[in-house]
Amino acid sequence: MKKLLQELRDTSLGAIENAESIDVLENLRVRYLGKKGELTAILKQMGQLSEAERPVIGQFANELREALTSALDAKRAELTEKMLDRKLRSETIDVTIPGKTVTVGKKHPNNTVLDEAKDFFIGLGFTIAEGPEIEYADYNFTKLNHKEGHPARDRQDTFYFTDDDRILLRTQTSPVQVRVMETQSLPIRIISPGRVYRKDEVDATHSPMFHQIEGLVVDKGITMGDLKGTLNELVRYLYGDDAVTRFRPHHFPFTEPSCEVDVQCFECGGKGCRVCKGEGWIEILGAGMVHPNVLEGCGIDSRIYSGFAFGIGLERLTLRRFNISDMRLLYENDVRFLNQF
Ligand code: PHE
Repeated sequence: MKKLLQELRDTSLGAIENAESIDVLENLRVRYLGKKGELTAILKQMGQLSEAERPVIGQFANELREALTSALDAKRAELTEKMLDRKLRSETIDVTIPGKTVTVGKKHPNNTVLDEAKDFFIGLGFTIAEGPEIEYADYNFTKLNHKEGHPARDRQDTFYFTDDDRILLRTQTSPVQVRVMETQSLPIRIISPGRVYRKDEVDATHSPMFHQIEGLVVDKGITMGDLKGTLNELVRYLYGDDAVTRFRPHHFPFTEPSCEVDVQCFECGGKGCRVCKGEGWIEILGAGMVHPNVLEGCGIDSRIYSGFAFGIGLERLTLRRFNISDMRLLYENDVRFLNQF
């Protein structure tokens, strides 16, 4: 029996010494010292021993139990420390490693020009008004003096939501004029920048979504001279004092008289080239004196009040401002392009 105990001592102490994890160690503890363990199994046979042998073997067995217990404890302590050490090492942070650089985007050229235009108008005492992009045909057309059947209402140009053509994506920012006249008190001086939508194919100068800056002034004694002065000053503010403008007669249902304003082509200086399609001029906005029908429709007495309105194509301003020849570049959001401005 002593031999059995000695064998057990040799194998068990070696196994404990070689244990590589707490789990393995725990299995060993159960295997040797547990209720059904190997040491217990040997001790159960003590009854078979003679009186003389019993105390000797008993003492030996006790010593072995103690030796095993302390070997298990020591190994457990060692493994715990090792684990902690490994954990600490894996979690150390090397503060000397250079950080990851965060690339910062740039303001979109459209926003740069919009902010400049806002600064200009706010300086003249204008405030900024907002209106919905999903609009009633009533506001987008009817209240702007577009009768039923007007070609601009055509389904081919307009994104309608409903079969009865009642709700649409606004084709212009001009409905904001009506919303402002219906709700604000006179005199009125607002601009309203925003997105507009038309069923256009994408090319160098067209996109189904683009931006306009609407403008509206209503007061006593407003004339075409105020319109010209304001828009000429805007063009100089954006493009410099030597920028040349041209006011061309035009037609809009909601202004009378109406005009379009061109800026002399920055590429060819008016001679005619690819950028201005041989015209020498680039159209940037439509404008005019608010039609009396529109004023009256909004409850404003057109015998006392008059006003002017304009709708600027923001992309047109931006292309001219930064000498960009293709509008599609503005929508691609390629940072290599945008970083140039
Ligand atoms: N809404 C017109 C357009 O989209 C522009 C415009 C605005 C014209 C205000 C006159 C007055 O073409």
